[in-house]
Amino acid sequence: MSNVDLLSLVRDKVKKLKAYKVENYDCDIKLHANENPFSPPAELMESFRKSLEDFKLNRYPDPHCNGLKRILSQRWRTPPETLVVGNGSDELIQLILQIFCDMGDAVAFPDPTFAMYSIIAEGMGLKPVVHPLDENWDFKADEFLGAVEKHDPKILFFSFPNNPTGNCFSPEEIKKTIERFRGIVVVDEAYYDFSKKTFIHDIRGHNNLIVLRSLSKIGLAGLRVGYGVADPLIIDQINKVRLPYNSNTVSQTFSEKVLGNFSQVQEQIDTIIQERERLVRALSKIKSLKVYPSASNFILFRMEHDAGTVFKKLMDKGILIRDLSSHPRLKGCLRVTVGSRDENDQFLLQIENLTRAENLTT
Ligand SMILES: Cc1ncc(COP(=O)(O)O)c(C=O)c1O
Repeated sequence: MSNVDLLSLVRDKVKKLKAYKVENYDCDIKLHANENPFSPPAELMESFRKSLEDFKLNRYPDPHCNGLKRILSQRWRTPPETLVVGNGSDELIQLILQIFCDMGDAVAFPDPTFAMYSIIAEGMGLKPVVHPLDENWDFKADEFLGAVEKHDPKILFFSFPNNPTGNCFSPEEIKKTIERFRGIVVVDEAYYDFSKKTFIHDIRGHNNLIVLRSLSKIGLAGLRVGYGVADPLIIDQINKVRLPYNSNTVSQTFSEKVLGNFSQVQEQIDTIIQERERLVRALSKIKSLKVYPSASNFILFRMEHDAGTVFKKLMDKGILIRDLSSHPRLKGCLRVTVGSRDENDQFLLQIENLTRAENLTT
């Protein structure tokens, strides 16, 4: 037997943290996590099924992800030395913090943005510094740098498009920031496929820029595949701290198939973009909602009603979206992921009913 005071052994910084809350209620319609509503195309599934027989699951995966990097390299016209694969892009965020920051260092980003920048940084004993976005959810490089530089941040993060606001920040302001800042700038393009705007081609002239991508939003969330593009010197440092087998055989093989035969996935993406536009038009017709423009696969909207109540009532109807209303800048705000046509119709029907219903406080 042993009975140790375990909490006394845990670092103070970790004790103070709250675990990231993943809402995974048992709802039929899940429009809360910015996933692709469609399964991978049947042809790809079939080709994957056939390749299972060739898998050597008793062997470790390729630690360098050479096959996947070859395809990414051709697709984005960037040498393999500029690429690194992560167990989701979340892992790459953590590795980047690990190589550029010492305990207590600051990292900065606009607010509101993707919660994991702050959560991962705090877990590592770093100091997140935030600067508020303007009323169009955008920022000016001079103002942003002027406000955060006194904290001497080592890294700046920009979600492009920004989660949860949905828009892309002005590319000129991001470019200006990359050129003026003397540290590392991460442009997180997890939602690139829905915005089609990228900084990948700016890597060549900007050695302090890291672009992150994810396959989670285009149908492979369950496989956890993200990748980074940066100057080879940065990639070398990431490779020093990355666990050698961070990307497993199944994830590598399936991602190669998807990226090597992208046309059917592109059709899914095109459908999601069309559905996004339809959802935006329909939501904009509801007078008590303010709908924010989206270049991603989700839509942020603000309600005159109590957002928490609407969120719960939607859940009662089997529809899970994201309640963001506890953030001071997002009072009354909910975020809905674009689903299939049928899922979107059901969501629209319920939200139209709820915003009309008299039992909701206005
Ligand atoms: C802006 C942004 N970056 C990164 C991620 C994480 O993606 P992954 O699933 O590749 O870890 C998300 C997921 O929601 C995101 O919204």
